[in-house]
This record gives sequence, C-alpha cells and structure tokens, in this order.
Amino acid sequence: MNTYTEKDAELNPLDALREEHAEIRTVLSKFENFLKKIPNGVTESELNEISEYLDKDVELHFKREEDALFPILGNYIGIETGPINVMLIEHNSCRELTGDLNKKMESKDYKSVASAGKALIELLSEHEDKEDGILFQIAEMQLGQNEKQDIMKKMITIN
Ligand SMILES: [Fe+2]
Ligand SMILES: [Fe+2]
Repeated sequence: MNTYTEKDAELNPLDALREEHAEIRTVLSKFENFLKKIPNGVTESELNEISEYLDKDVELHFKREEDALFPILGNYIGIETGPINVMLIEHNSCRELTGDLNKKMESKDYKSVASAGKALIELLSEHEDKEDGILFQIAEMQLGQNEKQDIMKKMITIN
C-alpha cells in the first residue's frame, strides 16, 4: 500500500483512495485464484502473503478512510447513520472475517480457509465498489478544495 509524503499534499484524496481500491482488487483476485487451487496447488507462504496484506495494508486503508475522510465528509452526511455508518460496520465485519481467516490458517484447516476467504473477498469487494460508486460520488459533490486538502494532509500522517 502507498505511503504518502508531503509531496502528495496536492493529490485529490479520493483519487488516492480509489487507487488503493484498485490495488486491493488486484490482491483479492490473486487470493481468489489461490483459493480455487486449495489444498494442493497453493503454498502456505502464498496464503500468508495474502493474510499479511489483509492485516496490514487493508487495515491501513480502512484507517485512512476512518480517520481522514469520514470525519470531514461526516460533517455533511453524518456518521452515526447513513452511508458512512454502513461503511464503518462493513470495515468491522471485514476485520472479523480477517481474524477468522487467520485462525483457520493457523489451524491449517484449508477447507475453512477457503470458505472464510470467499466470504471476505465478497464482502470487501462489494464494499469498495459501494465506496467508489456511491460514497466517493457524494464526497466529490460535497467537499471543497480546502477540505480535500485537509483530508490529504491527514492521510499523509497515517502509515
Ligand atoms: Fe472502506
Ligand atoms: Fe475503501
């Protein structure tokens, strides 16, 4: 996952997050291919690489949305109810499924790894589609240039 520095301060944070979505989709489709090859066509280290990405990189992406985008967008559309609330619930469901998946990896129960993995892929990819298709469209309409800059400045600090 990208690390942003001061030189990225002029980026549109929504573009940056959309690029993160594209990267997440690439990893999820790789994961989906691995799951099809379980149990014999995929190595433990290949699966570990995916679970590390889910733990660290996807978590970082969620944090950037939760700590930079949502508070400022929330001034317009609220946080406790509505689309941001739904997104927060889905982040937590993804975190739970990732924890689940890790447990099943540890116990080397590959049949369960496949089903937990499938559930996570479905939830996370639908989640990112909703953000791209709905939430970020709302954000583009509501947020001014200064607010976008504030969001990007905050994102630079979340690594
Ligand atoms: Fe999200
Ligand atoms: Fe996202």
